[in-house]
Amino acid sequence: MPAHSRQHNVDQQMKLYKRACELIPGGTQLISRRPSRFAAGISPVYATSAQGAYITDLDGNTYIDWVSGIGAIILGYCDPVVDAAVKKQIDSGTIYSINHELEVELAEELVATIPCAEMVRYAKGGGDACAIAVRIARGATDRDKILFCGYHGWHDWYLAANLSPGSLDSHLFPQIDPTGVPQCLAGSAIPFPYGDTAALEQLLDLHSGEVAAIMMEPLRSEMPPEGYLEQVRRLATKHNVVLIFDEVSTGFRASAAGVQTVVGTIPDMAVFAKSISNGYAMGAVVGKRDVMKPAARMFVSSTYWSDTIGLRAALTTLREIRRRDVPTKLQQLGRHLKTTLNEVAAETGCPVSCVGIDTHPRLEFDIDASLTAQVTTLYIQEMAKQGCHGYTSYYLNAAQGDTEVEQTANAARKTFSLIVQALDKGNVDQFVEASQQEDLFHRLVK
Ligand SMILES: Cc1ncc(COP(=O)(O)O)c(C=O)c1O
Repeated sequence: MPAHSRQHNVDQQMKLYKRACELIPGGTQLISRRPSRFAAGISPVYATSAQGAYITDLDGNTYIDWVSGIGAIILGYCDPVVDAAVKKQIDSGTIYSINHELEVELAEELVATIPCAEMVRYAKGGGDACAIAVRIARGATDRDKILFCGYHGWHDWYLAANLSPGSLDSHLFPQIDPTGVPQCLAGSAIPFPYGDTAALEQLLDLHSGEVAAIMMEPLRSEMPPEGYLEQVRRLATKHNVVLIFDEVSTGFRASAAGVQTVVGTIPDMAVFAKSISNGYAMGAVVGKRDVMKPAARMFVSSTYWSDTIGLRAALTTLREIRRRDVPTKLQQLGRHLKTTLNEVAAETGCPVSCVGIDTHPRLEFDIDASLTAQVTTLYIQEMAKQGCHGYTSYYLNAAQGDTEVEQTANAARKTFSLIVQALDKGNVDQFVEASQQEDLFHRLVK
């Protein structure tokens, strides 16, 4: 395990980020990669390499990466099997002016694995795949409105919700500005609160005959309330609305067949990306034949959706997830991480618990809400200094193991003790060296 021995600093990276902000509006391509999402000035910003469970940053620091490429890495960085398959594929060409049989092979794999999958389309990312699913659902039903719950990417169909200000506040984070989204889309994407069947039913009644789809994250890091998704399924069927599960963040961590097999509710369509291909750009929209087939006459078309790199990476990753029984491994890893961090919390007296499903644990601080941002930043800051990159939720991958849990527990022991000290003194702000974390995500689907 690479030691995090020398004095930690990220000076070169912060200078580079300054240059980036002059050239790239917003500084990064993904909000979750902005320094402000972590402990700015302490957390790593630019990686130079990664291997297994670890990343190395531009200033030469090495960290256990508990963010796993924002969920895209499920087997571990530079997985030898996936990377070898991709490298071999490169030698035969990455893209052609005609198709490649991998397109059909991967579709067969998805259909054989995922309960709702009878037909398949591809994409290059999660938001992309969600937008395709929405287009297909609208086209198949000849209706426009989408009821949604959770986060579904950057596209107009979704951001249109915030043309009615505040709609996304509890689904992503507050004050998202819908500038650039056509005003005429106002009222076309309507949020509903997670776990509240009556509220969903009310919306379906209010917009009766106009709703194309219910698009939702079935869960994130907590199991849904008993019977909730069955009720959603019943309502979708009753109103003849396409039920779409966005499985981008849950991916194949809890089950090699997707989270729909874990919750036992089968949607009409489902959307996958990120962990489907262990770090290569890929997404998939799968669904029942009657919903998917009308897409043949819709304009859903793009050059890179069937490049052989994404296809080969996805096919190999899915097979490796099954062959190595990654979901069982991640459940054991997550359970171990949760137990260990809860022991450290008890030992240090820190008001924090590690909760959530085993494949996606998260920390919850039992403190006054006014202190959450500061304490979270302090946690991220102190963990980063000790070689653990992450925030308060953990994206697991199969390259992480006991060694990483142990190092994380040791770092947490010091961090939790410092948090206790800061809370006791009532001056958390003086312990925070980083710029305070901004853009805290307020996930509605836990
Ligand atoms: C549930 C969900 N849907 C969609 C997306 C968007 O995926 P991408 O960033 O690949 O466009 C994300 C990304 O975090 C996600 O978590």
